[in-house]
Amino acid sequence: MTHDGLHVAIIMDGNGRWATRRGLPRAAGHRAGVASIRRIVDRALDHGIARLTLYAFSSDNWRRPTAEVQGIFWLLRAFLRLETNRLRQRGVRLQAIGRRDRLAPVVGDAIEKAELLTAAGDCLDLCVAIDYSSRETIARAAARMALSADETMCQPVLSQRLMGDNSDVDLLIRTGGEKRLSDFLLWESAYAELYFTDCMWPDFDEAEFDAALEEFYSRDRRFGGLSVTARCSSIDAFDRCP
Ligand code: FPP
Repeated sequence: MTHDGLHVAIIMDGNGRWATRRGLPRAAGHRAGVASIRRIVDRALDHGIARLTLYAFSSDNWRRPTAEVQGIFWLLRAFLRLETNRLRQRGVRLQAIGRRDRLAPVVGDAIEKAELLTAAGDCLDLCVAIDYSSRETIARAAARMALSADETMCQPVLSQRLMGDNSDVDLLIRTGGEKRLSDFLLWESAYAELYFTDCMWPDFDEAEFDAALEEFYSRDRRFGGLSVTARCSSIDAFDRCP
């Protein structure tokens, strides 16, 4: 199976419930969630997936209790400190999307350092969404475009402003049983195949990831057109038409 240029995006949901069901604090769920991230990054590399975008912290997640928010950022920093070398060795280029201005300087610095150290990676783009809101990203790109006198307000220009060298999402996975997009990559997922699973993120392992990919390849992606068989029968019918 070839995964040429594939962009997979994941809403990693269910850490809290995973922990609560085990009588553990929610922080234990986030910690187990980081172990899943390691597994899935490795699997994405094994599969030759081009880009993996992970929803680590939405702009709405600031509404959570301060201790939980601090815990998530502590885990993020620990992940960057412990994993950056390994990511670099495996050819992973790490990038973050989302707002930086509300992050604690130590968090911003850690992200920047990891981005610099992994900049030459050419096997997998690992994009981590932090303080990210898709609506806000779209609104900002549109506002910048409106301010720029020499740009036509049109879809390709907005798309370029918004996405830069980012690519459309091919497969969007959400774990944890909910079936919504939660303000994640709304523009980029216009033609994404959506895959929802009840599996909680800490339980999402290599087999679960493979099952999602298998389901993706069984789908007929028509991008608004017709499938090959429908196209042939439509041409036949046209030819037969008097
Ligand atoms: C969703 O589960 C998970 C999050 C909001 C945080 C995910 C963050 C990490 C795993 C740690 C840091 C990230 C990196 C890239 C190392 P939830 O808490 O909403 O689960 P629930 O719906 O069961 O409450």
